[in-house]
Amino acid sequence: MKPKTVYFCQNCGAQSPKWIGKCPSCNEWNTYTEELVSKNEPSSKNALSNTSFLKKNVVAIPLHEVGDKSEVRIPLFDKELMRVLGGGIVPGSLVLFGGEPGIGKSTLMLQLALQEKGLKVLYVSGEESVQQIKMRALRIGLENRQCYILTETSTAHIIAKAEEIKPQLIIIDSIQTLFSPLMESAPGSVSQIRQCAAELMNLAKESNIPVFLIGHVTKDGTIAGPKVLEHIVDTVLQFEGERNHVYRLLRTTKNRFGSTNELGIYEMQGSGLREVNNPSEILITAREETVSGVAIAATLEGLRPMLIETQALVSTAAYGTPQRSATGYDLRRLSMLLAVLEKRCGFRLGVKDVFLNIAGGLKVEDPAIDLALVCAILSSGEDVVIEATICFAGEVGLSGEIRPVTRIEQRIAEAERLGFKQIFISKYNKLSGKDDTKIKIIPVVKIEDVFALLFG
Ligand code: TYD
Ligand code: MG
Repeated sequence: MKPKTVYFCQNCGAQSPKWIGKCPSCNEWNTYTEELVSKNEPSSKNALSNTSFLKKNVVAIPLHEVGDKSEVRIPLFDKELMRVLGGGIVPGSLVLFGGEPGIGKSTLMLQLALQEKGLKVLYVSGEESVQQIKMRALRIGLENRQCYILTETSTAHIIAKAEEIKPQLIIIDSIQTLFSPLMESAPGSVSQIRQCAAELMNLAKESNIPVFLIGHVTKDGTIAGPKVLEHIVDTVLQFEGERNHVYRLLRTTKNRFGSTNELGIYEMQGSGLREVNNPSEILITAREETVSGVAIAATLEGLRPMLIETQALVSTAAYGTPQRSATGYDLRRLSMLLAVLEKRCGFRLGVKDVFLNIAGGLKVEDPAIDLALVCAILSSGEDVVIEATICFAGEVGLSGEIRPVTRIEQRIAEAERLGFKQIFISKYNKLSGKDDTKIKIIPVVKIEDVFALLFG
């Protein structure tokens, strides 16, 4: 009999009996690939229909009879990870940990496995040999006598081993290397990823063991394959950062057990990832002398206030077309800021090269950084230094107005804690009214006001 094949969109997991060029579900082009599915086995629609589900007696219970003992969580040594997860690992949860290749996923997970001394951990690797993992462990310099390594890619063997060892935490590196004997398609294909995740989900829910799945993400930001898992798993963690910079950000994009606003920061060192508890202190360059083109922004990453240094360099264009470049900031938004400065405020920047840089290789999406960037650009253009004790928090609108930003009190408190003397904010930002701040708050309406105050 001819084996049955189905076409799957590698981006969103939609399926089709024949090849199509454009996915009707996610509108991506050329993402369909043919995959083999076995004849009698769960089509991906009911990939969850694993036989172990049928074994159980299914009972429905009234919600009010369910005990309300607050869930126990496994506390972690790693405070950043613990906070991002919403206060520890929930037993029986399935966590997807995504990131680009080489960003440090295996390092963070091995560190987690080794840091938790009292915890029995099963670390399953389908990518590296036991020797390679040992070398990494030596590099990290931690030891956990209860950490078991398994180099295996078949889910059947992994689940059997897990039932035998009975660990308290399972880490899978990575979901793309696993295969389920129930499916005939190749490891890494959408149907395999779904099936393997469904089987591990069963394991997690039935045995109450939390499972972390490492998943590789492609350059364009979509988790290749694992994107189709986002709705199955309880929590989606994302590890980001510039590979050539030392800082790494840990975010959650989905969390059934906590907020998705938390952010963790790590520094990649020769001996593994170090938690960064005081981000502001490293994101502001300590320098002896002040230079023009530098302004400090009071930003918020998730719920965490951070003061970040922004740098601009404005110089006369050497060639006909002025160059614009931005690191860590949206280039189109930079063009918008320059257009506002040119049209509304009369600064001649059209013939200048403008280069922007956000310290630490961070990517900042918080619009409150606008005001600091504008000031850095003006400072470089005018070649006037902005004092190191001044910081900014405001969004810049199309008419050059300074707009209010969220959680202004938190930003002010952080700036004050770090010893800043003045903060520029929008006049329209409502403050709670208490007046005991040591830092001087300077409300502004337009860019011209700021210019007059700083350079006037
Ligand atoms: P890795 O965890 O293998 O990345 P991933 O699993 O996401 O693909 O880490 C890759 C990089 O981290 C590698 O280029 C080397 C660097 N690294 C350090 O700088 N210090 C360390 O202690 C370790 C273990 C890795
Ligand atoms: Mg890896």
